[in-house]
Amino acid sequence: MAEENKSATLTIDGQSYELPLHSPTAGPDVLDIRKLYAQAGVFTYDPGFTSTASCDSTITFIDGVKGELLHRGYPIDQLAGKSHYLEVCYLLLYGALPTAAELETFESTITRHTMIHEQMYNFFRGFRRDAHPMAIMVGVVGAMAAFYHDSTDISDPVQREIASHRLIAKMPTIAANAYKYSIGQPFVYPRNDLDYAGNFLNMCFSVPAEEYQVDPILSRAMDRIFTLHADHEQNASTSTVRLASSSGANPFACIAAGIACLWGPAHGGANQACLEMLKEIGSVDRIPEFIARAKDKDDPFRLMGFGHRVYKNFDPRATVMKQSADEVLDLLGVENNPILAVAKELEQAALNDPYFAEKKLFPNVDFYSGVILEAMGFPTSMFTPIFALSRTVGWISQWKEQLSDPAHKIGRPRQLYLGETERDYVDIENR
Ligand code: ACO
Repeated sequence: MAEENKSATLTIDGQSYELPLHSPTAGPDVLDIRKLYAQAGVFTYDPGFTSTASCDSTITFIDGVKGELLHRGYPIDQLAGKSHYLEVCYLLLYGALPTAAELETFESTITRHTMIHEQMYNFFRGFRRDAHPMAIMVGVVGAMAAFYHDSTDISDPVQREIASHRLIAKMPTIAANAYKYSIGQPFVYPRNDLDYAGNFLNMCFSVPAEEYQVDPILSRAMDRIFTLHADHEQNASTSTVRLASSSGANPFACIAAGIACLWGPAHGGANQACLEMLKEIGSVDRIPEFIARAKDKDDPFRLMGFGHRVYKNFDPRATVMKQSADEVLDLLGVENNPILAVAKELEQAALNDPYFAEKKLFPNVDFYSGVILEAMGFPTSMFTPIFALSRTVGWISQWKEQLSDPAHKIGRPRQLYLGETERDYVDIENR
């Protein structure tokens, strides 16, 4: 916890209370209200947590006004340009960039945990074949607790470490299996001679009938998508993981909870929703109609891939993602892709519109990721599972940080109750 060097005074009905103000290493000061209820008998009210810090953390920092994202202090554009996903995983998990030897050991550990228990394939086969891959992932990741009993004791740091490695290593296998199952193709086992992203592409796109060569440019683009989604401080799914974990739940159950939360279209499901929206718009001449709908208070339609709770400027991940989209589409010879044309034109139309400027609505990471994933051959239903596998390291890092804090408590918000006060039960014949 940061040092208390300032305080604020709250006055209620003439009675004053001193509340400590913590100064973080970056970002706004944080008013500490932990003793407020005990001292003043009042709660604070903040649905959606727009003004509430739920924990202290040293992992990720976002300055939404500047459009800045730092992992352990390193800017995301430097990590996306110079590093790669497994190195970023190490950084998030352990707090520092690895030495060459540390990285080699870490990569070897992750590579050697990519297989899943053979009986877990029965779980996949139990789903309807038209199941959404996110539904399969929630179920199968939760079911890992039934297979890996030696890594569910959260009080043991060694078991926590093993669970972390297992989750990072097996998530691509689980996501790829969910995809293969949905298209009726045989499951492809992981290959240790491929890197993390290349192995995932191979498990998704190779078939036993013919050789599949992983294109290094696509593998690099995939790795960059993983890197850009690796962590994002206390977002909805991460907060869900922390809340589930606060009760002492096992790591696999906590990550399954995070996957469930990520699925929603206001969060990780936005990449699927964004591409579906771009397809529905279809051509640039229909953009004004959709912009008008997004601005209409009586129409629930929103521009998917636009707006963010924290960023009130460009999402720095969107800038890198846009460059990646150009590279991938160029490589695949689809630079004249109509969806990309709609995306580029829509971005400009929204950025030049006073409604979006006034509300500080800018493209977020999901605006361009779907365009790249579709060009690579993924169906829209796989976009959010890819986000989930990328974010697993963020969830795990935050989970580990929470559990290693000896002062951690069960999360238990209070409420502003507006229901009936006490009343007597009325027998059914008298209602
Ligand atoms: N299109 C049109 N108007 C919007 C949009 C949008 N995409 N996003 C916000 N607004 C408007 C709202 O109508 C609201 O207007 P009002 O003040 O006149 O009522 C104002 O902007 C503020 O919106 P809120 O919903 O209050 O902002 P909040 O911070 O709660 O929501 C969110 C953020 C959920 C991301 C929202 O911008 C949204 O729904 N965007 C589309 C979905 C999306 O792209 N989600 C991905 C987020 S990034 C991620 O999870 C990886």
